[in-house]
Amino acid sequence: MSEAPHSNDKATMDDLLKENRLFEPSAEFKKNAVVNDEGIYASASANPQAYWVEHAKSLEWFKEWDQVLDWKPPFAKWFVGGKLNASYNCLDRHVKAGLGEKLAILWEGEPGDEQRLTYNDVYLAVNKFANGLKKLGVSKGDRVAIYMPMVPEAAYAMLACARIGAIHTVVFGGFSVDSLKGRILDADAKVLITADGGWRRGKIVPLKQTSDEAVDGCPCIEHMVVVRRTENEVSMQDGRDVWYHDLVADVADFCEPEPMDAEDVLFILYTSGTTGKPKGIIHTTGGYMTGAAATTKMVFDLKDDDVFWCTADVGWITGHSYIVYGPMANAATQVMYEGSPDYPERNRFWKIVEKYKVSKFYTAPTAIRAFMKWGTQWLEGSDLSSLKLLGSVGEPINPEAWMWYHEQIGKGRCPIVDTWWQTETGSIMISPLPALVATKPGSATRAMPGIDVRILTDEGKEIDKGGGYLAIKSPWPSMLRGIWGDEQRYRDTYWGRWPDTYFPGDGVKRDDDGYLWLLGRVDDVMLVAGHNISTMEVESALVDHQSVAESAVVGITDELKGQAIAAFVILKEGQNGDDAMTAALKQHVAEKIGAIARPKNIIFTAELPKTRSGKIMRRLLRDIAEGRALGDVTTLADPAVVQSLKDKYGDS
Ligand code: PRX
Repeated sequence: MSEAPHSNDKATMDDLLKENRLFEPSAEFKKNAVVNDEGIYASASANPQAYWVEHAKSLEWFKEWDQVLDWKPPFAKWFVGGKLNASYNCLDRHVKAGLGEKLAILWEGEPGDEQRLTYNDVYLAVNKFANGLKKLGVSKGDRVAIYMPMVPEAAYAMLACARIGAIHTVVFGGFSVDSLKGRILDADAKVLITADGGWRRGKIVPLKQTSDEAVDGCPCIEHMVVVRRTENEVSMQDGRDVWYHDLVADVADFCEPEPMDAEDVLFILYTSGTTGKPKGIIHTTGGYMTGAAATTKMVFDLKDDDVFWCTADVGWITGHSYIVYGPMANAATQVMYEGSPDYPERNRFWKIVEKYKVSKFYTAPTAIRAFMKWGTQWLEGSDLSSLKLLGSVGEPINPEAWMWYHEQIGKGRCPIVDTWWQTETGSIMISPLPALVATKPGSATRAMPGIDVRILTDEGKEIDKGGGYLAIKSPWPSMLRGIWGDEQRYRDTYWGRWPDTYFPGDGVKRDDDGYLWLLGRVDDVMLVAGHNISTMEVESALVDHQSVAESAVVGITDELKGQAIAAFVILKEGQNGDDAMTAALKQHVAEKIGAIARPKNIIFTAELPKTRSGKIMRRLLRDIAEGRALGDVTTLADPAVVQSLKDKYGDS
């Protein structure tokens, strides 16, 4: 969108795709909901600070704050002077309240092994781990890197750091040697916590080996703690490496939780996005915990007897906020699964839902589209009747994928919460409150109470309807506090576009009913014959065709129109990518959106290049579609995919 000139009075992005289906929550859902008073929106916007204070008070503070907010743009401090501890709020508080025997984590390994862990179990493990870290010389403010499979010890490690005031930085277990090394060096981490390996699609991911190679170039690392998971042969370096089970064998059962200032750093999490050097996003304790805890309860309508399952990895912000801190601050019972959704078969998730009677299920559109592609036969034989609510996060969800989720997984009964947020926002910002907002397939609906969302044009003029840039006008407690070691980049990236306004980098439109539709990253907008067309809308139109499983759309240079549309398309199994299909898809898009959006090229492919968190790398697709040389592919989930696309189409 940045390359497009705009006049002040015109919506910045053309609003092309219309969706009018509306789904009301049932009367019964409304009656029993955690939040069922519509007045919450008005009261939160009338007095946001009072609203957030109310939520902060649902945590336990060692000392209350003296001031709710200190806002010197772009720097916010929330609950100034308050003292608390995140691990205490996730564990001690519940044990003291008599919930020690409540199940905290229903863990399932990919090979089928399981552990049912109570709050007492997790409490003990975290206390011991915290004492173990202290023994290694870790103290308040030190950075600890965590590179782990999805095992309970990953959560213990995070909470153990939080307990002693060490700053954790979790690195997704699928990242390479270089990515791990870069993050450890940037954070200047003293200890790395890893495992011998983890299970993924029946194979061992050699985490210790990768750690060894990464740490070779990291003089800052003094110790490595290794959790035994896969029992594969690993080399342990004398004096540096220690097994987790040895570390905690002879330590005390209790570790005093460090009283942390509300603004003390809780963690750093690196976000790579699709371009540029990873940014170490900083989150602090009081505001982050307030946001994570409040949104978990409200958005997922969390009740005492729920079984919550967020399928994200702890290496992403979703795993931080909606596996570790949010659910555990609410004493939730949750499922944690180590492996892949298609191992040993494509029904693994549904077997897990049935087995643990999952009631609230939170996953990503990329997973939903994979399930659609695999077909509904994989749902047969699994009882999904325990489900009460479904969530989506990470990308815009196409209306067709939304409808499939609603009908096939939710069986038409379950409200869907499409939640928009970012690593930087810390917690959910735009989402329906499930008892209050009727949903439309593909729309994230409206801002959460207390969140000041606006739509701006290039010049910063606010518009009520139509498309433009998403902007957030006022600070919120769980907002990022900076980029580790790079204040200027923090100012430039997020606050440089308009005065004192947060710029998330996404496009959004508001329809006639006031509903918000996320349109993807603004650099994913095409300018075709003077119209700004969102890649998202064309992709949705393509996925709407019965033969299409997934698509990614990019703008390519076109002499006539400025940009033309190239569409990469993955067909459903059994479909043929021939000329007739190409013509049918072009026609379908023209019918759904208008002739303006008719793709010039349709490129059939078996896979799409994605970042490790599942986001499509459009920059690469653009290079391929325009036949340019490929750029940096080190963050690709599967570089071979791009190479094969390029071999096939790079010169066309
Ligand atoms: O473009 C938006 C997209 O994901 C970006 C944030 O990515 P990340 O920091 O990795 O966090 C992902 C998990 C919160 C956003 O700028 N995004 C996330 N959720 C949605 C979304 N786009 C549309 N709809 C969503 N529900």
